[in-house]
Amino acid sequence: MTPILTVEHLGKGFVLHGQGGLALSVMRDLSLELHRGECLVLAGPSGIGKSTLLKMLYGNYLAGDGRIRLHFGDGPLSLTELPAHAWHALRRDVIGYVSQFLRVVPRVSAREVVMEPLLARGADTAEARARAETLLARLNLPERLWSLPPGTFSGGEQQRVNIARGFIGEHPLLLLDEPTASLDAANRTVVVELIHEAKARGAAMLGIFHDEDVRERVADRLLPLESFMAPSLAPAAQPSTSRGLPHA
Ligand SMILES: Nc1ncnc2c1ncn2[C@@H]1O[C@H](COP(=O)(O)OP(=O)(O)OP(=O)(O)O)[C@@H](O)[C@H]1O
Ligand SMILES: [Mg+2]
Repeated sequence: MTPILTVEHLGKGFVLHGQGGLALSVMRDLSLELHRGECLVLAGPSGIGKSTLLKMLYGNYLAGDGRIRLHFGDGPLSLTELPAHAWHALRRDVIGYVSQFLRVVPRVSAREVVMEPLLARGADTAEARARAETLLARLNLPERLWSLPPGTFSGGEQQRVNIARGFIGEHPLLLLDEPTASLDAANRTVVVELIHEAKARGAAMLGIFHDEDVRERVADRLLPLESFMAPSLAPAAQPSTSRGLPHA
């Protein structure tokens, strides 16, 4: 079966302009395949590059080396060569992303924040509203909050709005960056159920979950990122004079 996503020999570094152009190498030679209906969980300690990988897949960060391809619709689409203007439609229709924190827009209610991905596709307003409310209710967000902008919501309330917004579009590929970090056990279970339902409809997911229990309940496979650390970050690495990187 053709995977929905293939990553080949991906590498990433950052140039720190505030540090005199210092080069920080984060990832090297990472390859993976992701299939429909599976949830692959990225593992590894803080700073290893988990969020960086998701941001490259979502087009927020450019890949340094390697290739990312999406097999969707008519043949493979190379994301590493995708022109900037093509990302909008791709994010609207194919790749969904639940970031760790909700991007709050003043005066836009929680309900509208959740409806927006469906409206962007031209969905009927009443239907989008009904689906948003169903998701908010499932995630136990009190109804009195639905008409309010989430700016003043608690961390867990904002996270639930973000999750509802991420899942409402039923994207074929979903990237999840610690979606349960601020949730209580009952709401973590709701998220686990949403992930299982997404798998059942054939969605592929790449996720980061610090919570061991959630990880065990959703992961079909684990991908530890330690082996793809750039030499400059690996614990046993020797100082690399060629890159001129600092070492602790
Ligand atoms: N825009 C950026 N500019 C410079 N360095 C960056 C940038 N984004 C990430 N990094 C660096 O890349 C490394 C990996 O960061 P990343 O956020 O991917 O880690 P992570 O595995 O998601 O960690 P955590 O579990 O703490 O969220 C870190 O050393 C980080 O400082
Ligand atoms: Mg992270």
